[in-house]
Amino acid sequence: MLDPTYVSYAKDGVYILATILFIYALHEMSNPATARKGIVWAGAGMFVAILVTGIVSGVSPQSFVPGISISTAQLEVNLGLMAAAVAIGGGLAYLWAVRVKMTDMPQMVAIYNGMGGGAAAGIAALALIARTDPLDYLGLAVVGGLIGSVSFAGSLIAFLKLQGWMRQKPVTFPGQKVINMLVLGAAVVFGVVGLLNLSGNVGAVGSSITFPGMGVETPFLLFFVLGFSYGFMMALPIGGADMPVVISLFNAFTGIAVGLDGFATSNYAMIVAGMLVGSAGSLLTLLMAKAMNRSISNVLFSAFGSQEETGVEMKGSMKPIEVGDVAAMLAYAGKVIVAPGYGMAVAQAQHKVKEMMDVLEKKGVEVKFAIHPVAGRMPGHMNVLLAEAGVPYDRLFDRDEINQEFASADVAVVIGANDVVNPAARRQGSPLFGMPILDVDAAKNVIVLKRGQGKGFAGIENDLFYKDNTRMLYGDAQETVTKLVQELKKL
Ligand code: TAP
Repeated sequence: MLDPTYVSYAKDGVYILATILFIYALHEMSNPATARKGIVWAGAGMFVAILVTGIVSGVSPQSFVPGISISTAQLEVNLGLMAAAVAIGGGLAYLWAVRVKMTDMPQMVAIYNGMGGGAAAGIAALALIARTDPLDYLGLAVVGGLIGSVSFAGSLIAFLKLQGWMRQKPVTFPGQKVINMLVLGAAVVFGVVGLLNLSGNVGAVGSSITFPGMGVETPFLLFFVLGFSYGFMMALPIGGADMPVVISLFNAFTGIAVGLDGFATSNYAMIVAGMLVGSAGSLLTLLMAKAMNRSISNVLFSAFGSQEETGVEMKGSMKPIEVGDVAAMLAYAGKVIVAPGYGMAVAQAQHKVKEMMDVLEKKGVEVKFAIHPVAGRMPGHMNVLLAEAGVPYDRLFDRDEINQEFASADVAVVIGANDVVNPAARRQGSPLFGMPILDVDAAKNVIVLKRGQGKGFAGIENDLFYKDNTRMLYGDAQETVTKLVQELKKL
């Protein structure tokens, strides 16, 4: 029989290794050149943590829960269930991940994140059922359970909206905020009552919180039902456009819930991994909100996208242009700045865009890429696509770095971007007002590649398309850039 104390030390040693791998992975992910390797390191850390947890549970469950007694037959059943869960979950996740389209990534992240929140809620529920920990630890399990269930249910709604299986527009009704707060408040009350029941203190703090005939489990059951309900209700008034920010927020919630569960169950790997996810998710949420010039409360409570902009008339007209004319304009330009957006991702035009860059550079044209932080549908969307196509990182410039350069550009080529180049953001009253944009309209000529009259994600008209120096090159971005490259090669 292995000494549980030594097994526990060995397990914690491996958890420290997993922690080092997680932190190194985050470091690698902070640079586009090493981000892919970062993902692999993080996966390796998670694999090591899961493996050691499985092995240690099998050889010495006492090193997880001191004093626990468990029969060999039960242990075998538990290990079998764990192996089956890992095989089914891992298998399904693998199949989905290899098949998912790049444009469907946000909803995949949403559902995976929801699973994390659900798992955190499940661990908290188990801690509350087992009740092997002191009461203050169980208090942490209650907080982790609430945050985890909110994250699970909210992420599920985010997934359904982004997948198009549910109305994307915000769902609102009178008194919604008050009802939501009441549901959250009731969840907190039942969580506290459950804890007081456990401590045998019910009644000591006042008979008003005693629930006659209620078993020890009942308040916790209601607590979880209300927690899930609040998660659903919290996500309903949020429109599809804001979902990536909310997914990131739920991601932070999941991390915090896992960290709290880690404290409740004295699992160091969960504490560190949870806090890393919690802080990275919180920072990302703040960065995205800042890039859209919105506060988190505005994202959560303003039902952005539920109202159309009315009473705005565009001056001028959209002026189409032919591929041949654009090719000539580009070939004889000194400096070209490309502003990509969601349409480039939809068209999967990044490889052709890279080819266009190569041809232009051979002709002595300086080519730069202007990357808006919320272009596309997920953080770093454009960076990932352009890196995949082999565009060198030193050609990619953040909005702050490149904005003053548009004035010296001969041509700004907007490829499938709309909201992030919409000067309406400078107009008071516009739903986009205040969002920092790429100042493409400052370039001498602006060429916009898009299929037709489709609006951007915010659903509003774009002043840029009507400006005197703007020309519209209609068609699918991949097909159009392919034709452009052919024309350029002829010149
Ligand atoms: P959008 O405003 O979504 O505009 C995309 C444009 O691409 C559309 O106007 C569409 O016009 C065009 N398009 C679609 N398919 C195309 C194709 N196959 N070929 C050529 N053009 C195509 O894109 P954006 O400028 O990148 O802005 C992103 C929006 O998402 C912002 O509102 C942002 O706030 C929001 N958002 C992003 C994030 C992150 S993290 N990226 C997070 C939250 C919200 P046609 O239909 O006429 O072709």
